[in-house]
Amino acid sequence: MLEPIVEAINLTKKIQGKDIIKCLNFKINPGEIIGFIGPNGSGKSTTMKMMMGLISITEGDVIVKGKSVKNNREAALVHMSGIIEYPEMYSFLSGFDNLVHFQRIRGSKNVNKIKQVVELLGLSKDIHHKFGIYSLGMKQRLGLANALLYSPDVIVLDEPTNGLDPEGIQETREYLKMIAKENGISIFISSHLLSEIELMCDRILIIREGEIRYDGPISEFLNESRNSKVRVVIKIDRKDYSSALELFQENVVDMNESHGLTISIPYHDIPLAVEQLVLNHVKVYSLTSQTESLEERFIKSSGGIK
Ligand SMILES: Nc1ncnc2c1ncn2[C@@H]1O[C@H](COP(=O)(O)OP(=O)(O)OP(=O)(O)O)[C@@H](O)[C@H]1O
Ligand SMILES: [Mg+2]
Repeated sequence: MLEPIVEAINLTKKIQGKDIIKCLNFKINPGEIIGFIGPNGSGKSTTMKMMMGLISITEGDVIVKGKSVKNNREAALVHMSGIIEYPEMYSFLSGFDNLVHFQRIRGSKNVNKIKQVVELLGLSKDIHHKFGIYSLGMKQRLGLANALLYSPDVIVLDEPTNGLDPEGIQETREYLKMIAKENGISIFISSHLLSEIELMCDRILIIREGEIRYDGPISEFLNESRNSKVRVVIKIDRKDYSSALELFQENVVDMNESHGLTISIPYHDIPLAVEQLVLNHVKVYSLTSQTESLEERFIKSSGGIK
């Protein structure tokens, strides 16, 4: 069995008598990218803050490489770095000097490593400008560069793509995937961009009202919807419309010359539909099934993202 890098055991947070996080149990395996998703106020940042030792743990614990965040904070957190909510840096120092400063606090000095992460995150051009004038996207990138400087075993990122432009989001995603794969670093990432999570993560944890509602591979989460109906758009010749209508009858939801014929059928009936079309000599030019995205599925299962 793979030893998990991080294990949350009955992790609980109460604030002013209110249960914010209710007895969470989950594991993070080496090199795994886990998406942590849930509506606003569901408890993502609070969970991540407890994992990073930034706020106290009311009950339960987080174990990082066998060390308890609750009882052995320093030793546990040596293996972890991250950004929670907002990358905090000194505005009067340049990006570069901030990185040097934070590296020094951790007791190391390696300018080459700084140059390497700066280059990788596309910050070379602005790295000697003051942090205070950076855009939010640049601040996020610098925060990420800082998190990567320590070659941690696990990186916790709370909405790291917040404020990034689409290009920045894509670059960040590719970079995170690369470090997970090549350096075996685990990544625990929260985001509201479900399409990003879908493209990047191996597993998802869905939290709602402080409780885990789903923990498993994205593929399985999406597959659960495979028995529900999907819309299938079929491009056929106009002369074949009447045969197709007869075949699919009440399953036809739209018929449009430019879009084609749209039917609504269970996902597993798609091959049967293709077979029937062919048997009835209907010429099919294209067939597109509109399966649910993670976003659609998530909204259905948890009552919304926002
Ligand atoms: N210091 C605090 N005092 C009182 N309530 C708090 C405190 N910190 C968080 N909460 C409450 O805990 C719940 C979870 O908040 P949290 O910030 O963890 O949610 P989130 O999932 O990160 O939301 P978002 O998607 O908006 O970032 C919210 O209802 C919030 O109001
Ligand atoms: Mg949050």
